[in-house]
Amino acid sequence: MNSLPIIDSFGRIHTSLRVSVTDRCNIRCFYCMPEVVRFLPQHEVLTFEEIFRVVRIGSELGVTKIRLTGGEPLVRAELWKLVEMLVTLSGIEEVTLTTNGILLAEQAVALKRAGLRRLNVSLDSIDPAMFQQITRRPGLEKVLAGIMAAKDAGFDSIRLNAVSIKGLTESEIGPLAQFARQHELDLRFIEFMPLDADGAWERNQVLSGSDVVKIIEAEVGALELAARPDLRQPAVDFQYVDGRGRVGFINSVSEPFCESCNRMRITAEGKFRNCLFSTVEWDLRELLRSGADDRQLAERIRECVAAKKAGHGMDSDEFLRPQKSMYQIGG
Ligand code: 5AD
Ligand code: SF4
Repeated sequence: MNSLPIIDSFGRIHTSLRVSVTDRCNIRCFYCMPEVVRFLPQHEVLTFEEIFRVVRIGSELGVTKIRLTGGEPLVRAELWKLVEMLVTLSGIEEVTLTTNGILLAEQAVALKRAGLRRLNVSLDSIDPAMFQQITRRPGLEKVLAGIMAAKDAGFDSIRLNAVSIKGLTESEIGPLAQFARQHELDLRFIEFMPLDADGAWERNQVLSGSDVVKIIEAEVGALELAARPDLRQPAVDFQYVDGRGRVGFINSVSEPFCESCNRMRITAEGKFRNCLFSTVEWDLRELLRSGADDRQLAERIRECVAAKKAGHGMDSDEFLRPQKSMYQIGG
């Protein structure tokens, strides 16, 4: 098998793979899922063995970083077993997880023991009513208990991810930032992207990272730009001037970072994607289930990445949002 790095036509080398392990979820955030949803039947979802094979092949092509996403990854039975499998791969330096935290209290210890070292917990508000308005489900106490369980389990890093939405989340930002500081958690704000299931996203609903900075400075404390050790990291990082904590911003809409994108994605049903906003997918499941060899799988991965566009093009008149929404792609 040709083991050259996975490179696109703009010279971007791809070393990061986001793996969606399920499209299912135990809450229904409006920016990601419809209220009523039909999930994939189980036989259409990749098995742990199939995921392992794709990641192994990726690792032989230079992939070093895996992030497990969903849907909600922790609704997949015994996810810790997949973590345990993936961390054995030489070449894979880091396996991380993005979770809504609802099932984290039950699973934190098993995940840590399996070799997971870092995790992101999605949390937009620490107010129960607002949490329920956004997620269309109760459950804030479970998420908070999950975060505390993860702290007790001793993860190297726990980061909160919050989606910022104009006219909705402004009031949540101060309390969330205070909470993160109090519990020594990293916090990251993500601009609302056109990946909701209801097609309701509008540009004017994007609360930009720079607006969030202003709110935090007014309500919590002064911020200064932090050093950026890895320039390929999409986040712009700030630290509090008083030294107590950090806040990062994923300004995907107002300041796209596609130029340095090194990410690929595979959906729960085994479709390979070169961008969150891609409208085309490359089917790996069909290859996996028809006896294809590693070389054929590697070639399809390369083909997918070779076809990657320069960026999401959200500001262009020709921008078409993908047919799929976030839960079907993986965050
Ligand atoms: N825009 C921005 N972020 C989103 N997420 C889900 N849907 C959207 C969207 N439309 C976030 C989740 C989670 C991560 C996986 O992606 O809140 O933190
Ligand atoms: Fe990468 Fe696409 Fe996100 Fe741009 S929009 S950073 S190309 S995944």
